[in-house]
This record gives sequence, C-alpha cells and structure tokens, in this order.
Amino acid sequence: MSELARTLPASWYCSSPLYQLERRAVFLKSWYLLGPVTRFQDVGEKVEYEIAQQAILAYRTSGDEPFPAPEEIEVICAKTEQPLRHHVTPTGLIFATVSDEAPSFHEYFPDLEPLLQRVDFTKRPYRRSINYEGRFNWKTMVDGYQECLHCQYTHPSFSVYYPPTFYEVHNHQNFSQHIADPKKPDDGLFLYFFPNCTLNVYGGGMSSFRVCPTENPNVTRMEFDYYHIKSGDEFEEYFKFVRQVAMEDYELCEKAQDNLATGVYSEGILNPMKENGVACF
Ligand SMILES: [Fe+2]
Repeated sequence: MSELARTLPASWYCSSPLYQLERRAVFLKSWYLLGPVTRFQDVGEKVEYEIAQQAILAYRTSGDEPFPAPEEIEVICAKTEQPLRHHVTPTGLIFATVSDEAPSFHEYFPDLEPLLQRVDFTKRPYRRSINYEGRFNWKTMVDGYQECLHCQYTHPSFSVYYPPTFYEVHNHQNFSQHIADPKKPDDGLFLYFFPNCTLNVYGGGMSSFRVCPTENPNVTRMEFDYYHIKSGDEFEEYFKFVRQVAMEDYELCEKAQDNLATGVYSEGILNPMKENGVACF
C-alpha cells in the first residue's frame, strides 16, 4: 500500500500559516489564465483580477479590429502599475504572472500549446462573469475538479452527457486534461491549470474559472467567466446548465470543508485510477 499516493493532511485545508507558505512557494511563481483575447475588446477598459492578494489589471491598449492582436494586450500590477509578464497563445488565450518570480511561460507549460491548437478561442464571444465567496479552502475545490468519482452522485444532469464510467484525467507539467469520453477525444476540451484555473469548452460554450484564495483559509472566492457562440436563449440555456453543475460542486465543497475542519479525519489514500488528477495536484 505504501506506493499509493495520499491526500494532503486535513489541517492543511484550514491553516493560515500554510496559506502564507502557498502564496510564496506557489502563487507568486505560477501562470494564470486570464481568458481569450476577446475578453479585452474595448480599448482602455481594464479587467481586474486578484490572485492570492496580488491585484492585476489586463486591458487592450489600441486597435480597432473586433479583438486585440497579441501586442495590443497589456497586463500590469494594480498597485505599482508596472507591466507584468504575459503570453498570448497562437489560438488566442492570454496567460499572465502576478510576480517576477515565475519562470517563463514555456518553462511552466512546456507541452500546453499543441493541445490548445485545436480550438480557436476567438470564436466564442464573452457573455458574462459571476463571482462569489464560498466557505471552503481553495484546495478543496481543486481536489473536487481533479476527479469525477463524485460526478454521478453530485451531478445527475452532467452525468447524462458524460457518463463517469469512461472519465480519464491525463496529467502534464502544470496542467491536466480531463477526458470525459475517450471514444470522442475531440468532444470538448477540459483543462485544469495549476494552481487554480480551469478552462471548459464544449458545444458552443466555454467557461473558465479561478479558485481564488482569500486570507482566511476557510474562505475562497470563485470567479467564473462565460463565453458562447450564441447570445439570447441558447446562451441562457447553456448558462443554466453550467450554473447548476457549479452550484452542486459548491455545496459539496462546503460540506467537505466542514468534514476537514472537524479534526476527525487526517488523511487517506487516493484511488490510483480515478484520483490520479488529485494525486498530481
Ligand atoms: Fe463536480
């Protein structure tokens, strides 16, 4: 049994000193998905992000095409207004750092861009964002995203489309790909980017969310951005479906956090097949 990966200790999900260590050792040294270039349509309109108490602003500097070219995107630190390193992928996703301590984009994600090639991220216009706080640690939500053992029980509507029987997670350096049905590998693109971003593309829709730690290790801010080929009823139908799944995860995380905080459970082993994504995280 010694070769099986184990969960993190429960106390790590409730500890302020551990979070301060995570900030320095992980969050200041990582890359974050801000969104596709279409998120930054209007020149000068600043979109604010806050990752581990580092506020950053991203915006379009110039141009009048429907969406900005890579050189028309700027990302700055909100406090110092100094530019931050960012990278626009060939198919239109913007990633950024929050400090100078991160390695280069290609060192951080050496094999990500070939996988992103199959989606043109400029084809799904930005529709809506939604943010709120939850009573759970940021790692509680990431643990849940990285496995689908909970899906059949927690997401009855999602499981109709993607039966969890086939679900696989393929781990790469600093990201994981979720494959809902190996027989249809091109049906959707579901990615987790270490430490706290996701991208979910399927049908005409696309969503991305950031699991943002607050200074309280028991509270996390969830930030969702939604995109869709269509506006109006078709978008609203998609939005209703994905919000339902998100609220099911939210409730599950609050309950899991209660259990982590009671002090009864410390740690356990992970299923090597079904929880390989959690082990990688
Ligand atoms: Fe879930």
